[in-house]
Amino acid sequence: MVSRVIPVDPFDLIIFGGTGDLARRKILPGLFRRFCSGQMPLNARIIGAARADLGKVDYQDMMRNAISEFDTNRNVENAQLDIFLAQLDYVSVDVRGDDGWSDLAALIRKDCINAYYFSVSPGLFGDIASRLNAWGLATPKARIVVEKPFGRDLESAKNLNAVLSAQFQENQIYRIDHYLGKETVQNLMAVRFGNLLFEPLWNAQYIDHIQITVAETVGVGGRGTYYDKSGAMRDMVQNHLMQLLCLIAMEPPSHFDPDAVRDEKLKVIRSLAPVEAYHVVRGQYDATLAKNSYRDDAENPRSFTESYVAIKTHIENWRWSGVPFYLRTGKKLKARSSEIAIVFKKLPHSIFGKSSDEKQNVLAIQLQPNEGMTLDVTIKEPGPGGMRLIHVPLDMTFADALGEHSEESPDAYERLIMDVIRGDQTLFMRGDEVEAAWKWTDPIIKAWETRNDVPKLYDVGSAGPEDAMALIHRDGRRWREVK
Ligand code: BG6
Repeated sequence: MVSRVIPVDPFDLIIFGGTGDLARRKILPGLFRRFCSGQMPLNARIIGAARADLGKVDYQDMMRNAISEFDTNRNVENAQLDIFLAQLDYVSVDVRGDDGWSDLAALIRKDCINAYYFSVSPGLFGDIASRLNAWGLATPKARIVVEKPFGRDLESAKNLNAVLSAQFQENQIYRIDHYLGKETVQNLMAVRFGNLLFEPLWNAQYIDHIQITVAETVGVGGRGTYYDKSGAMRDMVQNHLMQLLCLIAMEPPSHFDPDAVRDEKLKVIRSLAPVEAYHVVRGQYDATLAKNSYRDDAENPRSFTESYVAIKTHIENWRWSGVPFYLRTGKKLKARSSEIAIVFKKLPHSIFGKSSDEKQNVLAIQLQPNEGMTLDVTIKEPGPGGMRLIHVPLDMTFADALGEHSEESPDAYERLIMDVIRGDQTLFMRGDEVEAAWKWTDPIIKAWETRNDVPKLYDVGSAGPEDAMALIHRDGRRWREVK
């Protein structure tokens, strides 16, 4: 197979929080894969920056272990790994003080791209940004990468944006939402805008409703302290589900370029109708037999934080008028499955008699696992016995359809980090987008707080709380099975 990998320009990537969980689990293993594929040039450097008093070799050893543990996609080849690790350096830095900054400044090359990854708590973003400026590192060649959570409401997001934009231009700020780096999420845009056949049907005239599901089997064990202050609404809906909704609902951008795409996404978020209280269901997983409850995992016996949310919403514009969007996400559910289902309207008239017109066409886009698409269509059941109709899925599981090419799918993080180096912001959230998303979610969260809402319990391993079923059943519709 001909390699289509184009090496990026030389860079220095500085990871604040370089010894942390994200660096060990995602960033370094991702970079190693890009290195193995030939995309990371040999004169690129990765500089870990953290408080720990480590030497360069200690850091390289630490990352050797991390890559061996977390790089699940391939067998680590030691010779390759040695060359990669030689590109790593480390500086002990106090991001709230002056220690280490002169060492860091001396290490960074001024004649290449400088990317600063803020893999630290958002409370430190301002400290780092202003010190980068003070040490002459906030140059036009610099770009910064910030992780979610980007604030916990509109006000804090605005403050964060103000803190960062005091030192950097918007085109230097890369706000990561790793869902946008997933191959199938990008495929949503390819499917919608690379094919003629969907666009004429992609509107209220033909679509009955849309379901977006991100179901997880994992709980919050190990992350309880963070999660208990966030809940599913802040952790998943405000960012990942919102981004999926935007890609499904946005108008075709004039070009596939950062601002054209982000302008269209912003219009969708701004067109979302405020959500009525009875169109939201919060849930929390409950213990079953030997399985922990949410409260056990979060180590907070009185927690009212939600580990599940289901929402019915609308987009108030011409294209989507009257089409409900049902969103749901939750932890410790029966299966790990992320899917977007476009459910088309019923036939206006069936020529085959009453019983045949009930099934609707469904375009289901499976984001993970088993990435692919199916289109449920009606056909004649083969054989004698009259005109009996059956419904079958036209199946396009990408791994089958693409064969050897499907193995190339990069992990979300590696794709996004390479985009940072390339200077491509298409798959990153712009400041106004993040603020608009909080503006929509804030009133929902505030309403829960005001009335001390108690989440509905659901069993570990179930499909979610009963009330979430009622949310859609009331409209004469059903959730798709989580499997
Ligand atoms: C993260 C959330 O952003 O996304 C986690 O903080 C969640 O709570 C995770 O589990 C899901 O990501 P993925 O890629 O496993 O679907």
